[in-house]
Amino acid sequence: MFNFTYHNPTELVFGRDSIARLSVLLPAGVRVMMTYGGGSIRRNGVYDQVRDALQGWPLVEFGGIEPNPHYETCMKAVEQVRAQNVQFLLAVGGGSVLDGTKLIAAASVFSGGDPWAMFYDWSLVPACPLPVGCVLTLPATGSESNGGAVVTRAATQEKLFFTVPQSFPRFAILDPETTYSLPPRQTANGVVDAFVHVAEQYLTYPADTPLQDRQAESLLLTLLEEGPKALRSPNDYAVRANLMWCATQALNGLIGCGVPQDWATHMIGHELTALYGIDHGQSLAVVLPGVLRHEKARKRAKLLQMADRVWQLRDGDENARVDQAIDRTERFFQSLGVATRLSDYQIPPDAASTVAQRLADRNMKLGEHGDLSLTAVQEILESRQ
Ligand code: NZQ
Ligand code: ZN
Repeated sequence: MFNFTYHNPTELVFGRDSIARLSVLLPAGVRVMMTYGGGSIRRNGVYDQVRDALQGWPLVEFGGIEPNPHYETCMKAVEQVRAQNVQFLLAVGGGSVLDGTKLIAAASVFSGGDPWAMFYDWSLVPACPLPVGCVLTLPATGSESNGGAVVTRAATQEKLFFTVPQSFPRFAILDPETTYSLPPRQTANGVVDAFVHVAEQYLTYPADTPLQDRQAESLLLTLLEEGPKALRSPNDYAVRANLMWCATQALNGLIGCGVPQDWATHMIGHELTALYGIDHGQSLAVVLPGVLRHEKARKRAKLLQMADRVWQLRDGDENARVDQAIDRTERFFQSLGVATRLSDYQIPPDAASTVAQRLADRNMKLGEHGDLSLTAVQEILESRQ
């Protein structure tokens, strides 16, 4: 096991009717900016619940944060934060609203020129961004209890991230009932995203970490069971609750303690989203099977372990079991309605070289060994056409 530091300061408030707890969680009297997306919270009643809980707080609203939040939009919010002396940011929505809000929180106190520089050099993120709390409405990203913010600069089609300890939300309210209104596509994207977060911290090489391995396998097995149920029974509280808790744990740092990690699928996926506009979950469903097949020799031991413990494949030739574990993973994504080929999203074949070159230009050290080459990335994407 590698050395690690684990500190997760986010207070999680989970369950039915927990939005009302905002009145206890928010510091008294602070001027709050409530941030949200394109309007789902107005249609599903979450907006009204938040407004009710916030009576008595001076409130500013900033709506319109888009999926794959735009830097340009967030900078408009920063102007309002400064003009109106906002002291606390409350993100109400999915990962995009939350990530955008983490950027707003940091950029509002940034004094070093263009805040975009923070995405190239995380040490520029101010030590004390404005405090952020959230009401999460989409289980997927883990952003509700991690320090990550992924933001797109529309002008340059760059999708970059920072992840720093000071950007953890102060609190996250997780009410599974807020997720009943999710369209099937977003429910499925969320399951894929959480599954791939686990896979990238698990399907690497053995590091004598039986606890983290079994934690990861528990999450994968739960996603396999509960994901399809959520599509069949969107208003089943228990199913929505299990998915929500799973997605949080998939990327709150715990299962990543002391283990090798491989974020190649995410890095390649971010480029596909930045350039071709596909959803985050869709990009991962396309890329992960390609990465696993390309790297199956180096990931062999963990793929065999997954074949055994997640897919219950125990008989026959080892090579066949490795292949079947990857095939089953891809078929699981497809069974949720998430297509797994670039051509399913009308992405042209030259995407392979374009994406590989972009990542190479950024000197990205991809894969758990940090050595996935430009050629490897290109081959992975060529295999996904
Ligand atoms: O904008 P609104 O109207 O709210 O609609 C959203 C949006 O259209 C809708 N939605 C959210 N909750 C809903 C709902 N619709 C009905 N009922 C609800 N309860 O869903 C759509 C997608 O929302 P979005 O926030 O974009 O989805 P998600 O939570 O999957 O976030 C994706 C973003 O997070 C980043 C991704 O790259 C992407 O930009 N990630 C952030 C990470 C992090 N901070 O740690 C890690 C992830 O790997 C990921 O990269
Ligand atoms: Zn993700």
